[in-house]
This record gives sequence, C-alpha cells and structure tokens, in this order.
Amino acid sequence: MEINKVTVIGSGIMGHGIAEVIALAGLDVNIEDVSNEILEKARNSISASLDRLVNSGKLKNKDEVLSRIHYFTDIPASVKDADLVIEAVPEVLEIKRSVFDQLDKSTKDTAILATNTSNIRLTEIAEGITKKGKVVGMHFFNPPVVLKLVEVIRSQYTEDEVFETVYEFSKRIGKTPIKVYKDTPGFVVNRINAPESLYFCLVIDKGLAKPEEVDRFARSQGLPMGPYELMDYVGIDTVYHSLQYYAKELSPDYSKCQVYTKLFNDKKLGLKTGEGFYKWVNGKAQIPEAKPTKAVELMDIFALEINEAVKIIEEGVASPDDIETGVKLGMNRPFGPITVAKGLTNAEVKSKLEALYQKFGVEVFRPAKSIAEGKLKTVISMQIAPSKPEEKKVEAAYVSSSDPVIMETKGKIAVLRINNTKNNLINAAVMDGLEKALTDLWNNREISVVIITGNGPVFSAGAQLDSFFSSTFDFMEFARRGERVYKLLSEIPKVTIAEMKGYTLGGGFEMALACDIRVATDDVQIGFPEVTLGLVPGWGGTQRLSRAVGQSRAAYYILTGERFTGRDAYEMGIVSKIFSKDTIDSETLNLAQTIAERVAPISAALAKRLVLRSTNTSLDDGLEMEAISMGLLYGTEDLKEGISAFLGKRKPNYQGK
Ligand SMILES: NC(=O)c1ccc[n+]([C@@H]2O[C@H](COP(=O)([O-])OP(=O)(O)OC[C@H]3O[C@@H](n4cnc5c(N)ncnc54)[C@H](O)[C@@H]3O)[C@@H](O)[C@H]2O)c1
Repeated sequence: MEINKVTVIGSGIMGHGIAEVIALAGLDVNIEDVSNEILEKARNSISASLDRLVNSGKLKNKDEVLSRIHYFTDIPASVKDADLVIEAVPEVLEIKRSVFDQLDKSTKDTAILATNTSNIRLTEIAEGITKKGKVVGMHFFNPPVVLKLVEVIRSQYTEDEVFETVYEFSKRIGKTPIKVYKDTPGFVVNRINAPESLYFCLVIDKGLAKPEEVDRFARSQGLPMGPYELMDYVGIDTVYHSLQYYAKELSPDYSKCQVYTKLFNDKKLGLKTGEGFYKWVNGKAQIPEAKPTKAVELMDIFALEINEAVKIIEEGVASPDDIETGVKLGMNRPFGPITVAKGLTNAEVKSKLEALYQKFGVEVFRPAKSIAEGKLKTVISMQIAPSKPEEKKVEAAYVSSSDPVIMETKGKIAVLRINNTKNNLINAAVMDGLEKALTDLWNNREISVVIITGNGPVFSAGAQLDSFFSSTFDFMEFARRGERVYKLLSEIPKVTIAEMKGYTLGGGFEMALACDIRVATDDVQIGFPEVTLGLVPGWGGTQRLSRAVGQSRAAYYILTGERFTGRDAYEMGIVSKIFSKDTIDSETLNLAQTIAERVAPISAALAKRLVLRSTNTSLDDGLEMEAISMGLLYGTEDLKEGISAFLGKRKPNYQGK
C-alpha cells in the first residue's frame, strides 16, 4: 500500500499539528473541519509553529510547507483521493462514529482509516462500518511536531498490511512508531501512567503528604515538574476523565480516588481555570514553600510502572522494547520501566508492590502474575511476534488474587472468575465464594449481566476430588450444596453468560449449564467424566444437559464420558457464540455490554423465569404466566422508555424501574 495523499479530519490541538508534521515531511495534506473560522485558527497555529522552526534555524522553506496544506469543510471532498485518513475529532464516541460512517462511504476501497483516539476502542469506533479491516490507531503525542512517538494500534479486525503500512508511514514522516497489538484501554504510555495517577491521588486522600511537599521531593530528584504541578498543567478534567474510563475498563480501583473528583466538581481544573492543586498566575503555579516529603519514594513509582509494563507484556499488547521506547518518547524521559526493571531483582519489585498493596489496599498495585511467580526477568526479555499476533500465545485474562471467586464490576456487568489452582477446580471454598457473590449480586440493581468464567485460560475442569468427603452423608451434602448454589445461579434475576475456555468439565460444565447463555472457544474441551470415575454428574448435569440437547444425546455423553469441543457444542445448540481464543474475554464483555445497553432489566428477569419454567409447565399455564408478566411490565417506567426510544430512534436508557 503506497501512501501519497493524506487527509486529517479535525484541525484542533492535535489535527493541525499532525497536518503540519505531514507537510514538513514533504507530502500534500488535506485538513478538514466544521467551519472556515476554525480552519483559519488552525492555519494561524501552523504558521506560528513554522515560524518557530524558522527562527531556530530548523526550517528554510516555510511557504513551500504551507502550500502543501489544503483546507476543506466537507468530508467527502477532502477524502476523495486519500490513501490515508487520520481522524482527530473530539474524544466523543458519537462524533467519531459519525465521521467514520462518512469515511466508510466516501473513501477509496484501499484507503486506510486511522484514528488518533487516546482511549476509545477502535472496535467501538469501527462498529457498524463496512471497512473495519482498514481501521487502525495512529496515536500521536502532544505536541505532534515536537514529540516523536506514535503508537500504532491494531484491533482484531485490522488487516496486517494496514498495520504495517501505517507503521512504516510513521517512520517516513520522521516519527518513532511502536506496535500495539491489542486495542486495550490506554494502549501503552497512558496505561503505564494510570497506576501512578491513582497513587498520587491516594497520597493526598490519605493525608500522607501535601502536593507541594511531593512536588518539592520530585524536583529534588531532578524532575522538571512535580506530579501535581504537571496534573494542573495538563488539566484536572483530563486526569479525572481518564481515571473514570479506567475504572470502567480496567479496574474499579480507579474510582477510589477522591481528590481529583472534588477538584473536578469544584471546577478547579488547574492552569486553564487559574486554580487546581495550586493557584496559577501568568502561566506559573504558585507552589507554597515546603520541605520535600519522605512519604513518597521514587521506587514506589518505578515498581508501579514495572508492574503495569509486565501486565501489558503478559496480555500480549506490546513488546518490552516498544514499552521502553514508548515511555521514553511519550513521557520525554531518559529511561523507561524496562531499563529500571533490569537493574532490580524480582524480589525487590515484588516486596515493594506488596507493601504498596498493603498500604493503599488497591488490587491494581498487587504484583502482576509473572512478578508473583518470580518471572520478572523472563517476561521483560520476551519478544512479541511482529506481525502475526494471532499466532503468538496469548494468555486469557488473569487477575492476581487469592480469592476463590474474584468479582469485578464494569458498569452494569459483573464478572465472576473461578480462581483455584491452574484448572480452577471447584471445592467448598469456591462454592462459598460463588454463593456469596451471587447473593450479593441478587439485590444489586446496578448490575444487569453476570459473566462467569475462569481466572486465566481455563473455565473449570470440575470438582476438586481430593477435597470431597469424609462420610456418605458429607458427600451427599456436598452434592446438595452444589445443587443449591447452581440453582441460585440459574435463577438469579440477571442475564448470566458462561464464558467457556480451556476445559469445561464435570462440575464446571454443570456451572455453565446453569447459566442462560454460553459462549465458547472453538477448541474448549467439554464433557462429563463422572461415570468413568464411579460417580454421576451430581450438580444438575443429568437434568440440565437433557433439557438442553434432548435425552438421547445427553445419555450418550453422560454414559460414555466422551469429551466434545466448543464447536460441537455450538452445533448441538448448547453454545450460542464461538469466539477466538485471543479475544474471548473482550468479545464476551462486548456481548454483555450490548445486552446491558439494549435490554430492559425487569423484562429480562421475567423472560428468563418464563423460559426456565417452560420445561416443567403446561402450555396453558406457561401462556398464563406470560400474560401476567405482560401485565406487570405495563406499569414500568422502562416500558415507557423503551417505546419512546423506539419511536424517537434513539438508544433507550433503562433504569430497572
Ligand atoms: N490533546 C491531546 O493532548 C491529545 C493527545 C493525543 C491524542 N488526542 C486525541 O486526539 C483527538 C483530538 O483531540 P484534540 O485535543 O485535538 O481536540 P480538539 O477539541 O482540540 O480538536 C477537535 C477538532 O475536531 C473538530 N470537529 C468536531 N467535530 C467534527 C466533525 N464532525 N468533523 C470534522 N471536524 C470536527 C473540532 O471543530 C475541533 O477543531 C481526540 O481523540 C483526543 O483524545 C489528544
């Protein structure tokens, strides 16, 4: 793919800078925005920036550069011949989607559609357009003319050639690109920064030091600006919105921060409003005199950065080398977390992180899996395959925790991960954890969808046989316990999704059968080995499998103990969707998000009950129950909202009332 003609959509802080970079590299570039007045501002900003380059002796031919930039207020005309379009409109999903919708219709079939988004997933931006394979991330840093870094990001749809072409093109325009293989929140640089933003918030929330004491400490260590002065400079709103986003997408821990929320609500946004952590006069922060604090150590920050870098490598998002380059160039620093990690032992980093976890009580600070297992040195010397991410070994999402069932919430979704040994075996502690989580969720009106899965690449390989029983009665009680907990799971008034991967055997398969919807990888191993061990499926397996696939098939698999795959299960109708191993965690979350957005919670709870009862109710009774449910729903706010959204052609906003 050859790139000769480029269009930049949006001429704001980033757009005009990106267009200037491209024109400086000798290419013609179109720039498009909503009005001529805004374009005029962009033209002036570019001219002033070029003047600075002329004055410092870096540029001679300013007029020639300016003549390569062409201005438009109409997207189709601006992109007609473009080989590459770079979108830099505001970070608002609806605006980006509407721009991509127009690009989908008015660009050449071969055109690459790049977005400069800082946070929004490419998959979400590309949703609904036909040219998904052409969408790629091209994340410049501010100011684009000065900072060398470009994060080139691929989504699951991005074609290899598109990814490689944009990577090479970034070099051609004088930038240093890094490859981001997965479309994850914060990509590389912002993600590495996220835990320390939380850390500096908690330092203030807990009253460990004053901003000026920390900033004095930072300056005493040779940094040009302390963290709070920097946040005031960048804008408290930007920091606040990022943490809100990470709370939704990465970990609820990010919502624990109070001081940014308070400053944001008080409209103390830093430099731009004249006050944030500090008062600002003539563009300078008025930092009170203070002694450097001893409550903060540089090693805290290094440990947090190393931890996040390790998570990024474990998730297959970027290679250690690219993380190092990204942090150096994106944060304008002499070295990044990988260099620091090379000079430390695993034990040093681990004990520091454990101490931070103890002190602040946030999961985000806990050692990543590889650090917990003593493999820091191995992980930071890993190489990630350059162009075929689907071939590399990708570990499914792993959360570092000793809880037998880990619960995370993301908006209206709760994710429950079975977490016991490598194969997530089910024992009494897992049953306790599951029962507690389900009981808590039962009355939680905020949550409408529950995902059940395993921590890591396996759903659950079944019951932990060595923890079984000491007497016939105990064993019977263990079976009854499972029945009770799985009944709770099957009846909880939320939509439940089992995400089946690795092994889903015995008690694990019974757990999945108690859910409303099952999704799976093609190759997950499924089965009931019980009869081959002298047992029967004892947590509802004989009953629920025959209801799902009919008596004859159920008898075959239960009586032979034969395993089958996710694909077989899909063909039998047990599983509703097949997702690839690489993406099952995010695809299941996307499915849950779609359900949570679209479906009215009370309707879903009643519909689920009706379906559950359908197998042991007469048709007449079932129809009567349907009619009564309709009657109940008639009085709900959600019904009014559903109809008015439908008529108004907008998305409904259900409140579960
Ligand atoms: N500002 C930063 O430091 C920074 C850094 C990296 C990435 N980003 C990302 O770059 C993107 C742009 O950010 P920004 O800071 O330049 O924003 P900005 O608000 O300065 O500029 C956005 C421009 O888009 C224009 N626009 C709005 N709707 C449009 C439409 N429908 N068609 C064409 N133009 C339209 C606006 O008029 C404005 O000129 C965002 O996604 C942001 O997250 C920003």
